[in-house]
Amino acid sequence: APVRLAVIPGDGVGPEVVAATVPVLQRAAEGTGLDLQVTELDWGGERFLREGAAMPADAADVVRAHDAVLFGAVGRPDVPDDELVWGLIIGLRQQLDLAVNVRPVHAFPGVPTRVVDTDGVDLVIVRENTEGEYVGAGGLAHAGTGHDIGIEVAVHSRRVIERAARHAFELAGRRSGRLSLVTKSNAMRHGYPLWDRVVREVAEQHPDVELEVVLVDAMAARLVQSPRSLDVLLAGNLFGDILSDLAAVLAGGMGMAPSANVLPGGDVPGIYEPVHGSAPDIAGRGVANPVACLLSGALLLEDLGHTVAATGIRQAVSAALLDPTHHTPDLGGSATTTDLAAAVLDRMEI
Ligand code: NAI
Ligand code: MG
Repeated sequence: APVRLAVIPGDGVGPEVVAATVPVLQRAAEGTGLDLQVTELDWGGERFLREGAAMPADAADVVRAHDAVLFGAVGRPDVPDDELVWGLIIGLRQQLDLAVNVRPVHAFPGVPTRVVDTDGVDLVIVRENTEGEYVGAGGLAHAGTGHDIGIEVAVHSRRVIERAARHAFELAGRRSGRLSLVTKSNAMRHGYPLWDRVVREVAEQHPDVELEVVLVDAMAARLVQSPRSLDVLLAGNLFGDILSDLAAVLAGGMGMAPSANVLPGGDVPGIYEPVHGSAPDIAGRGVANPVACLLSGALLLEDLGHTVAATGIRQAVSAALLDPTHHTPDLGGSATTTDLAAAVLDRMEI
């Protein structure tokens, strides 16, 4: 059956890295006999300025008519961030109930990282993607009185913790068998203690996986000091968001970090996107690093069961990165987005 891929380039560097990725996906598909049908959607900032909404009202149905989505990024300086971030990517994650955001961090040989000893780092952050601190609950009290109070309520429910935990344990079981739960139960008294309790219960069904519970502040230090002691990290929405930017640096920076928004076991297309945003500071110059988007494309193919195509992309990325003449400015080089993408295409062996 054909793979129906929806592509949302979005804003800023989004269209640049997506344009670099689609031909690589197409090559991987051709090389493995896959019929890849690509539909481009014009959702994002320009559409917001034109029509008052970043995506159509039936966006979730449009997505459901596809097998997967490749998303670039949204955000532009002349539109308030929440209109685009909530109006598109957070909105889709919630409407489609995409339970977890999976963020692998892999230090490729030859890529400078500006932090010590990242050789061999290979870990995955599983971030709960629908609740926690990002449910949008709360409000403003005494607004405009000079005594304004902003109240942001975090929501953590057993069902949502359980499904994220199951995914993390299964992933850890396929990898090294080590899972680190990241919470903050010494200072927060309700939500994170529930996480600890529920995840320990799920652990009983996964005796093959060794669970440790680590406080988020300690985890921040450990990610920098001994990242190779880590394999799969499970975190709530806020901590997962923050730690994954930190962890991305271990692999060379924001330009290197892919992600997958998925509902494990559910019949919903996943949304695959670089962790980074629209990078307005470098947009339009053709120098964005396309690797985060390329690796998101590899995750997409892998989750659809096309492992040979996914591995082909990763190996070509890895081979291209060994040669510093293909490095974009964020990696200390002077290659353009298209230079690096062309080097990856050249090295596709499937
Ligand atoms: P950002 O990730 O866009 O940029 C942070 C830094 O990383 C910048 O210095 C940028 O130049 C660099 N960077 C990002 N991607 C890169 C790439 N592919 N190659 C080389 N360097 C890269 O985060 P920032 O600046 O906080 O946000 C910019 C806009 O993006 C905002 O409007 C924000 O709301 C939006 N955003 C959207 C996201 C999404 O669509 N999922 C996620 C994060 C931010
Ligand atoms: Mg983030």
